[in-house]
Amino acid sequence: MMQNALMPPEPLRAQIARSNVALSLAAAEADMPLIMVNRGFQRLTGFEHAAVIGRNCRFLQDDKTPVHQIAAMSVFLRDDTRDDGRFPVLNRRIDGTGFVNLVFLSKLRDHEGRIRFVIASQFDITTARQAAALAGNDEALIGALDMMRQTVGQFGLAMTDSAGLIARSITTLARFAVRDE
Ligand SMILES: Cc1cc2nc3c(=O)[nH]c(=O)nc-3n(C[C@H](O)[C@H](O)[C@H](O)COP(=O)(O)O)c2cc1C
Repeated sequence: MMQNALMPPEPLRAQIARSNVALSLAAAEADMPLIMVNRGFQRLTGFEHAAVIGRNCRFLQDDKTPVHQIAAMSVFLRDDTRDDGRFPVLNRRIDGTGFVNLVFLSKLRDHEGRIRFVIASQFDITTARQAAALAGNDEALIGALDMMRQTVGQFGLAMTDSAGLIARSITTLARFAVRDE
């Protein structure tokens, strides 16, 4: 099937749009501009689709975001031996409120192993209550990723099975202090 190198397959776009978990997709070119975000992303961050397309997702960070949190994502994206990862990062919504965003990142590769897209999912773990809701979100995220992996496979794109990584996210949380309400 023909596809534009910079355009994700339409069925992938449709699955992202339909999903209840916050999802975003970037092109693996230049500064990794966002190609699309879904309603879950808009609900979480307050940023509308039109306001974020073409921008790198670091607009959610500000000067309070610890540099090591940013560096962890930067190192991961440049490391060709890792295809998926999860990163707690201090972010800011459009209304100025801060939150701890547990960012999931997964690389989509073509037949030649070149990275074409990066799919991301965001989840607020600021408070203990929100962190407790993570397990439910993760179940939905694993389901969404399973469907997307099958879809992109039909378009010659490969995506890692991240279920194990996501299941281990409790370890990520244990290392990261969440606030009591
Ligand atoms: C698809 C995608 C979604 C991302 N989502 C977030 C996010 O929600 N919050 C965040 O702080 N960084 C996010 N990032 C990471 C930043 O865009 C950027 O890669 C990170 O800040 C490290 O790169 P830099 O050092 O060039 O800023 C995302 C990256 C990609 C590719």
